[in-house]
Amino acid sequence: MAKIGYPFTLGVASGEPTSGGVIIWTRLAPDPVGLDPGRPGGMPAETVPVRWQVAEDERFTKIVATGTAQARQAWAHSVHVKVDGLRPAADYHYRFSVPAAFGGATSPAGRTRTAPARESGDPVRFAVASCQRYEHGHFSALGHIADERPDVIFHVGDYIYEGGKPADPAPGRYIRPLESPERTCRTLHDYRNRYARYRTDAALRAAHAAAPWAPIWDDHEVRDNYAGARPGDGSDPEAFLRRRTAAYQAYYEHFPLRVRPVGTGLHMYRWRPYGRVADFLILDARQYREPGDMLGRAQEEWLVGRLEGSTARWKVLVQPMFFARRQFPDGSLSTDAWDAFPAQRARVLSAVDGGLVVLSGDVHNNWACDLADDAGRPVGVEFVGTAITSAPPGTDNAAILAANPHIRFHDGHRGYMSGTAGPDGLELAYRVVDFVDRPGSPVRTVALFGVEGDRLKRLDV
Ligand SMILES: [Fe+2]
Repeated sequence: MAKIGYPFTLGVASGEPTSGGVIIWTRLAPDPVGLDPGRPGGMPAETVPVRWQVAEDERFTKIVATGTAQARQAWAHSVHVKVDGLRPAADYHYRFSVPAAFGGATSPAGRTRTAPARESGDPVRFAVASCQRYEHGHFSALGHIADERPDVIFHVGDYIYEGGKPADPAPGRYIRPLESPERTCRTLHDYRNRYARYRTDAALRAAHAAAPWAPIWDDHEVRDNYAGARPGDGSDPEAFLRRRTAAYQAYYEHFPLRVRPVGTGLHMYRWRPYGRVADFLILDARQYREPGDMLGRAQEEWLVGRLEGSTARWKVLVQPMFFARRQFPDGSLSTDAWDAFPAQRARVLSAVDGGLVVLSGDVHNNWACDLADDAGRPVGVEFVGTAITSAPPGTDNAAILAANPHIRFHDGHRGYMSGTAGPDGLELAYRVVDFVDRPGSPVRTVALFGVEGDRLKRLDV
């Protein structure tokens, strides 16, 4: 056994809340972005027993669960502890420590919260983040999410960006350096160090420590614009599948998930119920994508079944891609959004009888849309959240609003969305920061929406 440096540099996290439990996570990494692929996180090869505690209070005087998890090198010394037997709709605090033989350090404490019981009508407070390109700016928006301490945080993709430092970065688009060497991620070591670099940001660690997360990836967790097992650039599919497998493993190693990778896959689509108020349906828009089919047949069948069987007030799709029709000023449609999959979108819409709420990201701008079925009947709304930091594209947003009357709102700041869903209503605030090129931006609500008759209703801020 070897004493190691302080191992909790990547912080702590919790996620996947149910009414009776959560997953708690940490990863030992005394040298988070070390250069030796044979020593991820700068750790020795040994398995380390990591002690964990869950308490009802911040001072850990009322401990309700405790145990030891083995941190193994094969999983980059990450630990994923399934904590059961907790009370519904309750706050808990958790922390980890390593034995004295490994230095005896204790982690910072995290706060988490279980989901309400099935019959509960309690409102759920949630935040939605996406697109946090590290080199594009500082994560102040994530710090503000942490301050809100929501019940659950959804991340709808582009948690990391796989690219390296561009040879000639555009002005204002290279604010801070990636880990060294600043190259495109291709190997397990590369992806591990990219996640570790992101977690060296204190605001990101704070957001993980403040509330349980339920994340879903988009493309940049692996490679820009990949689709299923295809790289999207015509390169060798076998090499791409190896790369995707490495990227999925690194993703697992850095999130408190209930599942682990199996073969070349990682099962990410899932249902997270919050009482009788909301059924959150988290969709994987990348792993199973085929031409004309964003979700794959099995996921679509699962989704349609869940939507048709849902008795919750709100049926909430949590996923990256712009869902409503969005025609560009030149008449074209996106090839990397639901507009490229209209038949599947129509089948999803016809599975609901109102109460649909779509939460999405990807486009680095805020938008709000009314959703209707093929017959023009309102079935719900979509809230598209802007990026935490990633620079926006150069689209003509005023012309998009003019060409798409069902798109009711646009805003071009960076930030996140903050919502409350209850049995009698749903409100969503677009929260924006004024700058990302330096730390410390304040946050403000730039628009607030409710839902009335399955249509958007703008509210006073
Ligand atoms: Fe993005």
